[in-house]
Amino acid sequence: MKSFGVFGLIAALSASTVAAAGTPVLAVRASTTVTPITVTGNAFYQGSSRFYIRGVAYQPGGGTGVTSDPIANSTACLRDIAYFQKLGINTIRVYAVDNTANHDTCMNALAAAGIYLVLDTDTPKYSLNRADPSISYNSVYLQSVFATVDAFANYTNTLAFLSGNEVINNSTNTNCAPYVKAVTRDIKQYIGSRGYRSIPVGYSAADVAENQYLMAEYMNCGTTDQRSDFYAINDYSWCDPSSFTTSGWDVLAKNYTNYGIPVFMSEYGCITNTRTFQEVAALYNTEMTGAFSGGLVYEYSNEGNGYGLVDISGDTVTTTSQFTYLQTAFANATDPTNGGGANTTSAATTCPAESSDWQVTGDSLPAIPSKAAAYMTTGAGTGPGLAGAGSQEAGTEDNESTGTATAGSGAVTATASSSSSTKSSAASGRAMAPFDVKPFSLVFVVFVGLIGGMALL
Ligand SMILES: *[C@@H]1O[C@H](CO)[C@@H](O)[C@H](O)[C@H]1NC(C)=O
Ligand SMILES: *[C@@H]1O[C@H](CO)[C@@H](O)[C@H](O)[C@H]1NC(C)=O
Ligand SMILES: *[C@@H]1O[C@H](CO)[C@@H](O)[C@H](O)[C@H]1NC(C)=O
Ligand SMILES: *[C@@H]1O[C@H](CO)[C@@H](O)[C@H](O)[C@H]1NC(C)=O
Ligand SMILES: *[C@@H]1O[C@H](CO)[C@@H](O)[C@H](O)[C@H]1NC(C)=O
Ligand SMILES: *[C@@H]1O[C@H](CO)[C@@H](O)[C@H](O)[C@H]1NC(C)=O
Ligand SMILES: *[C@@H]1O[C@H](CO)[C@@H](O)[C@H](O)[C@H]1NC(C)=O
Ligand SMILES: *[C@@H]1O[C@H](CO)[C@@H](O)[C@H](O)[C@H]1NC(C)=O
Repeated sequence: MKSFGVFGLIAALSASTVAAAGTPVLAVRASTTVTPITVTGNAFYQGSSRFYIRGVAYQPGGGTGVTSDPIANSTACLRDIAYFQKLGINTIRVYAVDNTANHDTCMNALAAAGIYLVLDTDTPKYSLNRADPSISYNSVYLQSVFATVDAFANYTNTLAFLSGNEVINNSTNTNCAPYVKAVTRDIKQYIGSRGYRSIPVGYSAADVAENQYLMAEYMNCGTTDQRSDFYAINDYSWCDPSSFTTSGWDVLAKNYTNYGIPVFMSEYGCITNTRTFQEVAALYNTEMTGAFSGGLVYEYSNEGNGYGLVDISGDTVTTTSQFTYLQTAFANATDPTNGGGANTTSAATTCPAESSDWQVTGDSLPAIPSKAAAYMTTGAGTGPGLAGAGSQEAGTEDNESTGTATAGSGAVTATASSSSSTKSSAASGRAMAPFDVKPFSLVFVVFVGLIGGMALL
């Protein structure tokens, strides 16, 4: 990969793109390319070398950020890339983007810095509703998801798409699993149908003791067209001072040995005590790397919940001691040699059986709503952005799923009408927010609490 300083890149581009009025044009016209990340067996690869995710979550403005897309803001992005380089990371995770915005400047500057993107395809307004998944799995939602795929598929540094984050967040809502898996399948199918490169697609699971591992088994069971490309877990069980065994990461390493597809931490970094990021040494050690492909520290900027590595005030970034600890920990943790114990054979899991912890009947998935199936051939068109009307209540008989799909057919369309997706009224007035990334949840808990309280009256 060609690697040169971001600021060198910007300077070079500015020189050749100075507008008539003398204002530097920041838009990067020529795309900067990196070697795309691929999946073989249970690991990621950059060419023939194993790739370990060393990253941070990046969503400055998080809590109130319904209208803010951090990688559409060139100024902020270019400023922050300098800190990413100091940290020594190779990946950022972004939770919500505006699929109508242009991301060329930031994505190309990230590429120039050797940094990849793990992108959530949901937004606060366009996501599954964990309280009513059937109605929220509709063509309006999928159009937004597919438009996001269109907006990012051409960047070589798009590492992966996350089809959902913590949709199942409790022992009581495993009934969402078929919908999460269907969305994952649909994104994979869309990428294939539109002729994009094979960008990995998977789901980011909450640390719910009763079902995080059952969901892992579920997302990787069945036919190839229905299996995820990877699984990702949010995990805050290593709270410094701790150890591989005290934290329970030894159990994770054991559980995911022979899992069959890559797994990584889509969020980690417990803040119970001062974080010195001792877990970084474990994560990139062979005790974990046989199963795990690194992870993403939550999160870059302080958003009022104590997880930030830096404070942003206006345009000024101030690093905290945690930033320095993480920088030191990354520098100290070199990648294992010889593939780190990865297994090059992909393998499917066995679907979990229905139980009180796993309230999913059978292994079949809802068929894609027919209007969304049409996007496979026509393309999704212009997305709604972050400020659209939203999708959670948009379902009707006409744009929801109407049957189950036939596994292994490569087809996601309905092959038979069935009652497997129980409908509920679009006019129920429910407005639960399933988009539960921590920056938003602070706001949403209050919001949902109000709505919930009103519903009880
Ligand atoms: C972009 O980020 C800069 C630096 O944080 C900020 O001053 C500016 O308001 C942001 N622009 C938009 C449109 O959000
Ligand atoms: C992606 O690249 C293809 C092939 O160069 C091009 O046809 C398509 O318009 C590009 N899509 C976007 C959204 O830029
Ligand atoms: C799980 O959901 C149930 C029902 O909505 C609720 O009563 C319970 O408090 C939730 N548990 C947690 C840990 O949020
Ligand atoms: C580990 O696997 C067992 C089943 O083999 C499961 O009950 C347990 O919840 C899993 N734990 C984690 C942390 O994945
Ligand atoms: C550096 O790595 C070693 C070996 O992996 C580990 O024992 C040590 O705790 C690490 N130090 C820091 C500061 O992360
Ligand atoms: C690699 O994975 C395959 C499929 O799960 C399994 O059969 C095989 O035993 C694994 N190989 C090693 C060396 O663990
Ligand atoms: C869903 O389908 C119904 C019936 O065709 C249509 O009236 C409605 O506009 C659709 N919803 C959206 C948001 O497209
Ligand atoms: C799950 O999400 C709901 C909002 O949909 C929230 O009220 C609840 O607190 C969350 N439960 C957990 C355990 O985070």
